[in-house]
Amino acid sequence: MTEIRPLIVGNWKMNGLQSAVDEYKKMTMTAASENLRDAIDLVICPPATLIAPFATAHASERSIALGAQSCHAAASGAHTGDLSAEMLADAGAGWVIAGHSERRADHGECDADVSAQVAAAARAGLSPIICVGETLEDRDRGQALDVVLGQLAGSAPAAIVDDLAVAYEPVWAIGTGRTPSSDDIAEVHHAIQAALIARYGPEGAAMRVLYGGSVKPNNAAEILRLEPVGGALIGGASLTAESFIAIAQAAREAF
Ligand code: PGA
Repeated sequence: MTEIRPLIVGNWKMNGLQSAVDEYKKMTMTAASENLRDAIDLVICPPATLIAPFATAHASERSIALGAQSCHAAASGAHTGDLSAEMLADAGAGWVIAGHSERRADHGECDADVSAQVAAAARAGLSPIICVGETLEDRDRGQALDVVLGQLAGSAPAAIVDDLAVAYEPVWAIGTGRTPSSDDIAEVHHAIQAALIARYGPEGAAMRVLYGGSVKPNNAAEILRLEPVGGALIGGASLTAESFIAIAQAAREAF
């Protein structure tokens, strides 16, 4: 058991058209009727095109906050196709994912890019969720911890940012239905927490370290009960109200 308030984040990736507003509304209404916000912080990161529609769909009392999936480091300028942290905040985001392995692979983002995005998030008042995680080759070579801690060292900001969270997402567990053993998850989470404490002092111990990679309603409780897991970053299972809320309920019971 941990005293940290769990953070459950849904990453919709490149999924969802305007009609998805209904699913988000359903999520927020169920979360509100079940008083999930009393115990857990919930965030959905839809594609950027849906941040503003989702924000206005639930303008009064939002039981599920909104986040973006990435941002550019600059506030504005000649960067065709990119979105700044300020624009995402303006659209209604309060959070931003930085350094997801799909961004690192598809767009060649390196730790320095992630670090610049985290600085941009802080500048715009967004809370960053920094993703780190090893490939299967790294793990087979016994280098999982080195890779994860190296990414963290290269991308975490020098000074604390409000609600900064780290997500441990083994690349080989994302979208594959495979998850590491409980011992492996706990080992990496302990190492990340120790690195955060070394960097930020006691406040580092209060930062939430999420697990991500094939989290589903049927394995969420087991994963979220592991010390010191502070929540989850969920891809596929965050797309429907039914499975996202089921995971949130598992989180409430696990903490
Ligand atoms: P998944 O994705 O839950 O579909 O494995 C997790 C993620 O990429 O954040």
